Amino acid sequence: MSLRLGDVAPNFQAKTSIGEIDFYKFLGDSWGILFSHPADYTPVCTTELGRTAALKSEFEKRNVKVLALSVDPVDKHLGWISDINETQNCTVDFPIIADDDKKVSTLYDFIHPNASATATVRSLVIIAPDKTVKLIITYPASTGRNFVEVLRVVDSLQLTANHSVATPANWKEGEDVIVVPSISTEDAIKKFPKGVKVVKPYLRYTPQPNL
Ligand code: BEZ
Repeated sequence: MSLRLGDVAPNFQAKTSIGEIDFYKFLGDSWGILFSHPADYTPVCTTELGRTAALKSEFEKRNVKVLALSVDPVDKHLGWISDINETQNCTVDFPIIADDDKKVSTLYDFIHPNASATATVRSLVIIAPDKTVKLIITYPASTGRNFVEVLRVVDSLQLTANHSVATPANWKEGEDVIVVPSISTEDAIKKFPKGVKVVKPYLRYTPQPNL
């Protein structure tokens, strides 16, 4: 069965570019991002892993640990990492899982047989510290993902985990947020001292509460 939002992300042990890992031990109490790519030594994947490495401090700031995965072996990952570092002007130091037996890909439903019988698609899973799955996205091999958007989702998830708000379309850190429908306007006014703007009874904005 495929993984769905709210499910517990399954644990696994795997060979990676930084040695053997136990997924849960690697994550500890952090948030996690596990993302698959079709293959090593491919152009779009090279840029994706470069972007991820370049955003290292942004992931760290948010207490997020990142792991990549493809069905290639460790020695191939190591050679390719040198190319990524050289061409993308970065240092890839997050683990890349060598899933040559497709164990993790199968566990996380990263192989979509009608797209490719053997390669993983571009899936990305965000996992909360309690190990529940908070986001799943899947892109085709021909489209590189936007890792600034991934950070934006992490910001929204971390905010909405702690406050009774949701984030509107295209929201960015610092912008007004939406009061969740389960709170009455009367309660919202007490709960959000920075103010509540009522556009419709079901559409109420408040300044971002944790700033
Ligand atoms: C790439 O990562 O560049 C790629 C991989 C498979 C198909 C097309 C592009």
